[in-house]
Amino acid sequence: MAHPAPQASGPAASEQADRAGETLLSVDKVTRNFGGLSAVSNVSLQIRRGELVGLIGPNGAGKTTVFNLLTGVYPPSHGAIEFTRDDRTRDIGGMAPHRICAAGIGRTFQNIRLFKDLSVLDNVKIAMQANVPYGLFAAMFHTPKFHKAEVEIVDRSMELLGIMNLADKAGAQARNLSYGDQRHLEIARALATEPTLLLLDEPAAGMNPAETSQLTDLITSLRERFKLSILLIEHDMSLVMRICERLYVLDHGVVIASGSPDEVRRHPKVIEAYLGEEADV
Ligand SMILES: Nc1ncnc2c1ncn2[C@@H]1O[C@H](COP(=O)(O)OP(=O)(O)OP(=O)(O)O)[C@@H](O)[C@H]1O
Ligand SMILES: [Mg+2]
Repeated sequence: MAHPAPQASGPAASEQADRAGETLLSVDKVTRNFGGLSAVSNVSLQIRRGELVGLIGPNGAGKTTVFNLLTGVYPPSHGAIEFTRDDRTRDIGGMAPHRICAAGIGRTFQNIRLFKDLSVLDNVKIAMQANVPYGLFAAMFHTPKFHKAEVEIVDRSMELLGIMNLADKAGAQARNLSYGDQRHLEIARALATEPTLLLLDEPAAGMNPAETSQLTDLITSLRERFKLSILLIEHDMSLVMRICERLYVLDHGVVIASGSPDEVRRHPKVIEAYLGEEADV
């Protein structure tokens, strides 16, 4: 990614520029076995602060399993996953999902996971409440601190819904949203946990070309607005090639290629892996 030279002087501006290239996530030779199957095998990848990186590969290649390893759904069988926040680097491999979320990794799911009977607003509020600044006592007795925090949570949730073009549907039941809107709500919920690294698992799945194009612009604007690093799994190659700065290609659990979209597109192993697939790399 081309980072602009710092314009303003002062500690905040120079600190931002200094941090831009640092490694945020480092996956080192990670393997995950399910019985006799290695879903992910000896995978290494890095994401630097502010990068938008794609993780692509044919069906069953191991992409979602990588996300499940990064978010604590499964511990790695072997290897290390290091994540840096506030100058602190920790091995998060095998850490509980809520701790990884609190450390700054947010995600969406390939199979949409919403509270379908709750309102759109409540879906975001619940995700945000993971980090509420009041205790059980305040919640039970509705203290002034509780009320203040509640007002802030509603305000911030509505702001996120506005950014995701869902503000006018805040009161609707999640199950009544269109498929595309449900995917937007998933992203709003992930943002509500205040991640520094956002993992998106096929955010354009089921969307028509117009919706996909709108989502593509939205993802790049979210990165700027929230100073995010993003790792994106996506089968829609027009989206991937348009916005990702770097790509990793998985096939049968192994990284077979990595580099810029142009390098990856021309890589013989990638062409071979996609032969017989519908995707036009
Ligand atoms: N919990 C599990 N138990 C057993 N096998 C699993 C489990 N999770 C994933 N797998 C297997 O691991 C392999 C990789 O699956 P994964 O879902 O990571 O692929 P993917 O690249 O995300 O595929 P898709 O593009 O279809 O979403 C598959 O063979 C899958 O069946
Ligand atoms: Mg998957």
